[in-house]
Amino acid sequence: MHVFLLLAAFPVCALASSVATVLDVQYYIPSKTELAHDFDAKEPFPVTVITSPNATLTASCLNSTISDYLARDDVLTKGFLSAFYFQGPEDLTLAPETESLLQTFGTTRVLWAPSQDTVTLADGPYFATGSGLHRAWRLYDDHTNSFVLPTIPSPTDVDAYEDLPVRGTGLSGDMSIAVPSRLFYKPTPEKPLAGVRIGVKDQYAIKGLITTYGSRAYASTYPPSNVTSGVIQHLIDMGAVVVGKTKLSVFANAWLSIAEWPDYSLPFNPRGDSYLVPGASSAGSGAAMAAYDWLDSTIGEDTGGSMRFPAAQNGVYGIRSTKNSTNNTATPFGPFDVAGHFARDVDSFNSVGAVMYSQVGYKNYTKFPRKIIYPQEYWANINPDYTAPCEEYVQNLEAFLGVNRTVVDSNALWYEYSGQNTSLVDYFANLVPYVSGTNNFTRAFKKDYIAKFNRYPYVALNSAGSASLAPQNSTLGEIGFALQSEFQAFYRHAFLPANEETCSETLVVFPFNGNGGNPWYRDDPATYTVEGRAPALPGYISWNLLSVMNESPEVAVPVGAVEYTSRVSLVGKEYPATLEIQGAVGCDFMLMNLVREVAYTLGLPKGVKTGRRMY
Ligand SMILES: *[C@@H]1O[C@H](CO)[C@@H](O)[C@H](O)[C@H]1NC(C)=O
Ligand SMILES: *[C@@H]1O[C@H](CO)[C@@H](O)[C@H](O)[C@H]1NC(C)=O
Ligand SMILES: *[C@@H]1O[C@H](CO)[C@@H](O)[C@H](O)[C@H]1NC(C)=O
Ligand SMILES: *[C@@H]1O[C@H](CO)[C@@H](O)[C@H](O)[C@H]1NC(C)=O
Ligand SMILES: *[C@@H]1O[C@H](CO)[C@@H](O)[C@H](O)[C@H]1NC(C)=O
Ligand SMILES: *[C@@H]1O[C@H](CO)[C@@H](O)[C@H](O)[C@H]1NC(C)=O
Ligand SMILES: *[C@@H]1O[C@H](CO)[C@@H](O)[C@H](O)[C@H]1NC(C)=O
Ligand SMILES: *[C@@H]1O[C@H](CO)[C@@H](O)[C@H](O)[C@H]1NC(C)=O
Ligand SMILES: *[C@@H]1O[C@H](CO)[C@@H](O)[C@H](O)[C@H]1NC(C)=O
Ligand SMILES: *[C@@H]1O[C@H](CO)[C@@H](O)[C@H](O)[C@H]1NC(C)=O
Repeated sequence: MHVFLLLAAFPVCALASSVATVLDVQYYIPSKTELAHDFDAKEPFPVTVITSPNATLTASCLNSTISDYLARDDVLTKGFLSAFYFQGPEDLTLAPETESLLQTFGTTRVLWAPSQDTVTLADGPYFATGSGLHRAWRLYDDHTNSFVLPTIPSPTDVDAYEDLPVRGTGLSGDMSIAVPSRLFYKPTPEKPLAGVRIGVKDQYAIKGLITTYGSRAYASTYPPSNVTSGVIQHLIDMGAVVVGKTKLSVFANAWLSIAEWPDYSLPFNPRGDSYLVPGASSAGSGAAMAAYDWLDSTIGEDTGGSMRFPAAQNGVYGIRSTKNSTNNTATPFGPFDVAGHFARDVDSFNSVGAVMYSQVGYKNYTKFPRKIIYPQEYWANINPDYTAPCEEYVQNLEAFLGVNRTVVDSNALWYEYSGQNTSLVDYFANLVPYVSGTNNFTRAFKKDYIAKFNRYPYVALNSAGSASLAPQNSTLGEIGFALQSEFQAFYRHAFLPANEETCSETLVVFPFNGNGGNPWYRDDPATYTVEGRAPALPGYISWNLLSVMNESPEVAVPVGAVEYTSRVSLVGKEYPATLEIQGAVGCDFMLMNLVREVAYTLGLPKGVKTGRRMY
């Protein structure tokens, strides 16, 4: 059964990339070889590469290595044990009992590296072909339709990515996403995210790929990017592997229902009966995080709630980061646009965050604020089944910090601070529209589209038309920014002052759901504001806009599940309940630390599961 391998003295012909099936699991075989050799294989066959530390490979060493690899990796499966490629010291041999171990593995082929000089391969799953050994990538079905594009690193340009050249076989046009073996990566101080599989919202440019921004018209207007967005490049430099681009609502607008996603259809929220709204605009990143064990983190962005809605709807951790906390050079959607990430557990929420927001030099505070601000208007008139787990978390937070909450009314604080009697929502009514209006992204795109195709583009809700091509009067932008400074002066005084020891003097807490804490179906009518309910009582500023206008961080924390009877399946299901916690500007690390410390100290869940149920 031994095949002695000789290295090819001349280049063998390259195989085109292809797909293979091993024990009913599909794999992607890239054309790139890690070792060139003609294996005389009519069909590609799976091989496990093992490096022996000693000249004699013992059965116990091989067995424990394989057990460890199978436990750590989802790409290597037992099917890969049908062939081995051994490398190691000169004169490497198998101990006699190792031969019998191979029989228990069902091994039929053993290949040997020809000499010590050729110990060049990382251990793990490969395919042998007529060209050589290729790394195996496992293909997973995107059954929630969260991705718009599956990606792989370019074999020729280390800075670039390519569109995965294979598509899925699943029903409903499911895409296949290719993931690399975990065995090929080891985190180091230089690459703390080595091998971490991420999905990236398709508004971030990645060199080599088209950016859709959720719009077919946009995708048809521009060539693939020639540069990668700074924050994504940083994650890649730190070792992360981008496995795909995730869907967003057109130009990241706050469009939440199926009718508002005409081009790349709304992803399926995996929770409950899978017919609930997955949130907007980072819906693809949120739904994928809640659905796939094989995905480690997803990157989104928040302009007016686009991290927090999908985190809340899909029941995962998410953060709207402090303004400018990443090198988000794209910022296509204007001054409110910030990056964020999703996670399923408190540890990876912190570890990915520690890298993602590391470039601005924030201090890592490990002492926590001693004041909890509880704005009562954002707790009023919400489904009590939804507020119950949020209330329980606030009580846990009180116990953890050793304080009682301070109940406030934001308008009362504003009247006291400003000496006026105009409510916050009326006084600051023009802030968001005027500041947002300074952004020319959509106008610039429409002009480019018209220049290229000589007609107007289709944009969701059919917002084409010449009127929107005129830039906003610049005076309005000035008015908007002046209002924002005024709002910040108030909010940073009354709600979120900074503190030298604890970063933020206070934490602000409220529940987050766009439908009064009630189930919210993907085919519900197109608007999220339910009269008199969340996101705000009449006369109050919508809660999603507070951290936006203040440019401060806010974390979405899944705190429990709410039972409901699905109007789709008519059976009992659960959907996520989410509490928001705000801290002062630059307190991103403190908030993520807090969420982890509370979970560990009080024995609360340290994460959520994928799929229908969170716990
Ligand atoms: C390699 O050989 C050394 C010396 O015989 C032994 O101590 C060690 O346990 C061996 N390593 C493995 C992994 O078997
Ligand atoms: C190999 O390890 C597995 C579990 O890790 C164990 O069940 C099996 O008995 C071992 N086989 C041999 C031959 O040691
Ligand atoms: C990228 O493309 C743009 C527009 O075509 C061009 O102006 C720019 O110089 C290119 N940048 C690089 C780094 O190639
Ligand atoms: C930010 O990202 C851009 C690429 O989008 C890059 O050119 C620039 O050097 C980055 N800046 C820093 C400080 O990393
Ligand atoms: C964020 O960065 C932009 C671009 O560098 C700069 O104009 C702006 O003042 C910064 N804002 C804050 C709050 O740091
Ligand atoms: C901050 O400190 C805590 C506690 O030592 C640590 O667990 C965490 O990883 C640190 N975070 C960052 C961003 O360095
Ligand atoms: C919180 O309120 C309760 C009930 O009023 C009181 O007994 C307790 O001492 C308060 N705790 C703190 C830390 O103020
Ligand atoms: C605000 O104050 C003015 C003058 O004090 C009064 O006329 C007006 O009715 C007040 N408005 C509200 C909404 O209370
Ligand atoms: C948008 O376009 C107007 C008019 O051309 C210009 O004055 C303004 O600076 C632009 N805004 C941004 C953010 O580039
Ligand atoms: C811009 O808006 C300001 C304030 O509303 C107004 O006074 C001015 O006339 C406007 N300018 C133009 C060119 O419309």
